[in-house]
Amino acid sequence: MTELTELMKKHVSVRSFTGEVIPEEDMTEILKAGQAASSWKNFQSYSIIKVRSQETKQAIYDLQQQPWILSCDTFLLMVGDLKRAELATKLHAEQFHADGAENLLISSVDTALVGQNILLAAESMGYGGVMIGLVRQSSKELSELLHLPDYTYPIFGIALGVPKRHNPAKPRLPLEAVVFEERYQEQDAQVIHDFDAVQTEYAGARQTELWSERIAQQFGAPESPVTAEHLKQQKLL
Ligand SMILES: Cc1cc2nc3c(=O)[nH]c(=O)nc-3n(C[C@H](O)[C@H](O)[C@H](O)COP(=O)(O)O)c2cc1C
Repeated sequence: MTELTELMKKHVSVRSFTGEVIPEEDMTEILKAGQAASSWKNFQSYSIIKVRSQETKQAIYDLQQQPWILSCDTFLLMVGDLKRAELATKLHAEQFHADGAENLLISSVDTALVGQNILLAAESMGYGGVMIGLVRQSSKELSELLHLPDYTYPIFGIALGVPKRHNPAKPRLPLEAVVFEERYQEQDAQVIHDFDAVQTEYAGARQTELWSERIAQQFGAPESPVTAEHLKQQKLL
């Protein structure tokens, strides 16, 4: 065990903030720690829109009404970005092919790794926050609001601030349900029932539906076409 692994294991999303400001030098440190994440061939296929003005936070909140977008100190929009790749490619090649599943994975993974580094760095300094992927429901409007050009797309936001309250850490699946020795092991529904019970005990009276019911809501119907439509518009699909 190290201080770092202890910090990582204590992670909990924070959705309630005191309103105190994160000093600019702390924010710079957090962002630099984010930048240090591994990156596909070091292409660094992401950009971050740092939003601190209440006016812009309000405009984002109007698109995706999660109260922590308004109450956080800083909202970071994590953007998958192949726009710089266009600039580089055009220096050396006639054509630029940004679209496709592999390229989407490259930029999405790079962006996610930076985002996770940012959240952990913030937590290590006593701040807290939550990732906000539901902003993708308004990808088009958000991209217009924040002037995202072709070859870029919003992946998730991170609301950061000084925590007012920490919920107890959420349970995770047992390690052996997600880590397999040497080869993949198919599981039966018992693993789902068992974790439903764990999650139900954790959530207590706050629980409105089973963990597995939430999964079924997501995957029991075709996904909303909004994200794919926007990715096509941005020339990424
Ligand atoms: C990519 C991503 C998007 C997320 N989007 C949202 C969101 O839109 N709203 C929200 O309240 N939490 C969001 N979360 C937070 C998750 O709900 C949270 O991480 C999960 O329930 C586990 O809880 P914990 O982070 O407290 O351990 C998101 C997390 C990830 C990784």
